[in-house]
Amino acid sequence: MYFIANWKMYGDLKTLNSLDKVIKFSKDNRKNKFKIVYCPPNTLIRPLSKRLIKTKIEVGAQNCHESENSGAHTGQVNSKMLRNVGAKYVILGHSENRQIGETDSLINSKIKSSIKSGLKIIFCIGETLKERRSKKTNQTLSLQIKKGLKSIKNKSNIIIAYEPVWSIGTGLIPKSEDLIKSIKFIKKKFGKKSPKILYGGSVNNISISQLKKISVIDGFLIGGASQDSKKFIDIIKKTYI
Ligand code: 13P
Repeated sequence: MYFIANWKMYGDLKTLNSLDKVIKFSKDNRKNKFKIVYCPPNTLIRPLSKRLIKTKIEVGAQNCHESENSGAHTGQVNSKMLRNVGAKYVILGHSENRQIGETDSLINSKIKSSIKSGLKIIFCIGETLKERRSKKTNQTLSLQIKKGLKSIKNKSNIIIAYEPVWSIGTGLIPKSEDLIKSIKFIKKKFGKKSPKILYGGSVNNISISQLKKISVIDGFLIGGASQDSKKFIDIIKKTYI
């Protein structure tokens, strides 16, 4: 099971001290088969990866430029640079970036460049409330998968994160039966070689009691609750109780 923390635009050098609890928890539970990945803002990737040397916890980024080559792109960072400072993963296609204009085709280029740089990709897909209400969930998921993964043959470094947009930061989670349907729908798109599928959207130490029962889920992408080490550990513990 994956437990991936998406810190979004939160956290500074001081915040990293709070991770000592998680590092200890991970060490105490070395034999357990869960994988923790922290995706902090870019400013914290290097200090965090240094801190996590000799632990099983890995680090990822939250986005990158579509070209793995350097260039005149003010304010941008590419996948190679992320890899260079210790990132092993990158979140791509997050709805917060789609909402500000990131298109499926741009996401596709970012995925390709990140694969070339040797990063593992956490590819986010999910329907808006409007799409859900007009029964277009499957159609949206299909299109996002089709366009986002266009002409990518080797998907072994891709993990899908199903994050219904209406569930992010709202405290709402899908009904279990709906969630199972969507995850199965996504899995079916890939046939026998389905990537791991995570769920994201209001995962916390309370909603986990319902979510953990859904066996088709391979892990969680956690926003708000991942910034509080105690809550984050609680989520992992409760998954296995
Ligand atoms: P919340 O867990 O805060 O709802 O955020 C989910 C998310 O966007 C993870 O990528």
